Amino acid sequence: MMQKARMAPGKPRDERAGPRHVAIIMDGNGRWAQSRGRPRLFGHHAGARRVREIVAACPDLGVGYLTIFAFSTENWKRTQTEVAGLMSLFRRYIVKEMQEFVREDVRVRFIGDRYRLEPGLRALMGEAEEMTAHCTRLNLTIAINYGGRDEVARAMRRLARDVAEGRLDPDTVDEQTLPRYLDTRVLPDPDLVIRTSGEARISNFLLWQSAYAEYEFIDTLWPDFTRDIFARVLSQYGARDRRFGAVSA
Ligand code: FPP
Repeated sequence: MMQKARMAPGKPRDERAGPRHVAIIMDGNGRWAQSRGRPRLFGHHAGARRVREIVAACPDLGVGYLTIFAFSTENWKRTQTEVAGLMSLFRRYIVKEMQEFVREDVRVRFIGDRYRLEPGLRALMGEAEEMTAHCTRLNLTIAINYGGRDEVARAMRRLARDVAEGRLDPDTVDEQTLPRYLDTRVLPDPDLVIRTSGEARISNFLLWQSAYAEYEFIDTLWPDFTRDIFARVLSQYGARDRRFGAVSA
């Protein structure tokens, strides 16, 4: 097989192995519930069960990093009932899954601005991160109160502070500098971004990090997104020719 020409940006990697880092915009919980005549939160609960299934599937499917969009900086505009229900679902999910993550060797991280989240949830997030800090089989990152633009703005604030306080020379700022200030600083860029429910938008998710990601927009609503569908999407990715701006040799 011919070697593909790959040049910066992007790290050379054998894509036939499948995507190393998959990011998912889990959309369609509300419609799934409404089509059954049930409240939107019923859909979010079904969505949480799917999260469990997809997380469990990752190691066997060769996915080392999974990043999921659970709550955006825009989601605060939803009704108070839905927002409160989601926050309570996140709390329960973390409490219920924490031991399981350790058993399954899953390292959990959270991205997004925690400052607006209630202290109880924030504490649980910190606890889950600490308890799983030694785990290596899967890197699960959950985005809560996350927005790509907000993340860049927060990163810029920290960067500007480092310049103002003499820790960073502005003339050295380049494409490698900003990622060090992002919430995702320890993660590789996503190779594949999946969005369920038929919407073809990126909705402020991992804006900087997805510059060279492949996108898959799937019609299935998130609560119907099974392990088998996930495996099929991953196998399609293996057939793609990612060039990172270069040409195929
Ligand atoms: C989008 O569907 C989904 C969300 C805003 C919430 C995502 C949350 C979960 C999948 C629940 C569990 C997550 C974890 C980490 C336990 P939508 O409500 O916008 O659906 P719609 O477009 O059909 O209205």
